[in-house]
Amino acid sequence: MTQNSRIFECGGLICPICGRELAQSGGSLVCAGRHTYDIARQGYVNLLPVQRKHSLAPGDTPEMLAARREFLNEGHYSAIRADVIAALDENCRHSDSVTICDVGCGEGYYTAGFLRHFPAARIIGADISKAAVRMASSRTRDISWITATASHLPVADEFADAVTAVFSLVCEEEFARILRPGGIVAEVTAGTSHLIELKRVIYDDLFEQHKRPKPPQGFLRETGCELKSFRMTLDNRQLRQLLLMTPHTLRVRPENRARLEVLPSLDLTVEYFVRILQKP
Ligand SMILES: C[S@@+](CC[C@H](N)C(=O)[O-])C[C@H]1O[C@@H](n2cnc3c(N)ncnc32)[C@H](O)[C@@H]1O
Repeated sequence: MTQNSRIFECGGLICPICGRELAQSGGSLVCAGRHTYDIARQGYVNLLPVQRKHSLAPGDTPEMLAARREFLNEGHYSAIRADVIAALDENCRHSDSVTICDVGCGEGYYTAGFLRHFPAARIIGADISKAAVRMASSRTRDISWITATASHLPVADEFADAVTAVFSLVCEEEFARILRPGGIVAEVTAGTSHLIELKRVIYDDLFEQHKRPKPPQGFLRETGCELKSFRMTLDNRQLRQLLLMTPHTLRVRPENRARLEVLPSLDLTVEYFVRILQKP
């Protein structure tokens, strides 16, 4: 544990077992019920109780994460990050020290970008994958990186001005619980044509399904939804990385992967919804 791990003194986190507030004591977070969680040397805390883990190592694998880090660091999705930041700017302008919880933060590309844009913000980056938050914590120690599940966030009621979910799971009721009234969810989901050219290469029987985010269930109300798109050309190395960082890598047949691996380059569509859900 380093001194910089004082970020956890900022509060906002609760015990995933008994729900009481967590306070930092030396190199650990402790609740009044004496449940104790060590701050790892790398600067993250595991707040995912074993009973909420559905496999030994849930979430993205280290191989997927390494590919995502390299791909995102090259800036291919910087327009998506700029769109989420613009949505946060528009909806959280009132507050100097905005509080943000990035759920399914992965290796932290978007989360760290939020902090650069809002240097006074209090930010929690949560992901079910321990490998992800470990990697994310190498981006900055000024974010509270935690291992947690989106359906049971160890975050206090009404803590957040904004919850972000970029290509990750949205749990509406739980997100509404941690949002202050008027707070927002900024959600990014894939559009119908997202990476369609890649899918045509790797799937023989592609069913081109029309995609649109599902209407909210009543805990939040939709206040905006924009479909955005851009084109990018990737070379062979970047195409392999892209495949590796997506769940397609777990589904693709070896002969179809081989088809992609010999392509010198491919023009791709990136298409996504940026949707805003607000807590009344
Ligand atoms: C497609 S990745 C997106 C990661 C990151 N937002 C990005 O776009 O680079 C989805 C992330 O959600 C995480 N994840 C999957 N199920 C989750 C859950 N139940 N709770 C929290 N995170 C989860 C995965 O480990 C993975 O890092």
